[in-house]
Amino acid sequence: AAAITLRLRDGLTPPPDGTTLAGCTRCALARHATQSVPGEGPQDAALMIVGEQPGDMEDLAGRPFVGPAGQAFDKIATAAGLDRRAAYVTNAVKHFKFIPRGKRRIHQSPNADEVSHCRWWLTRELDTVQPALVLAMGATAALALTGDGSGITRRRGRIERGLHGGAVFITTHPSFLLRQATDAGRETQEALFRRDLEQVAQILADLE
Ligand code: URA
Repeated sequence: AAAITLRLRDGLTPPPDGTTLAGCTRCALARHATQSVPGEGPQDAALMIVGEQPGDMEDLAGRPFVGPAGQAFDKIATAAGLDRRAAYVTNAVKHFKFIPRGKRRIHQSPNADEVSHCRWWLTRELDTVQPALVLAMGATAALALTGDGSGITRRRGRIERGLHGGAVFITTHPSFLLRQATDAGRETQEALFRRDLEQVAQILADLE
């Protein structure tokens, strides 16, 4: 984790003056993706939700969490009393990483270098929004936010201190729920995810 933290810190070197997210070519992912996908939501949100990277549908739409993972998230968040529209929603990495297979584009997880380079943009978002709480969904978001790349099964449901100095609540990625092989597995993971989101909703309610 120490080495990963160092590389993450390197990612804070600014890109050339005047570089916008839309024009960022800091890493190779920009070459193949349709477009960069910026975060969206109120600039003064108390909660910032961070995923991994845009998926196939987000890459085409230019908006975060509009595909299957986003729909799974929306359903469970609503049940947990968490209002997505009140949150600022973004990703650790702003370009879709994939390998083409026929007509399909198969998702690939970003590596630590890509996460590190893209941290420049995530840090700008954190500086602007200054959320009271950040929800890290999945290992990539947890790595980008805390510098700790270790597995999240044991970390989920807890608050860690982010590299930005603020609180980061760790949970699994919603696509993990969709990848479960059995209905029972999916139900179990949905219940755990919902419990985490209920905790987040409670923390936000306590802040008010
Ligand atoms: N998965 C993510 O991590 N982010 C998205 O925006 C969509 C799917």
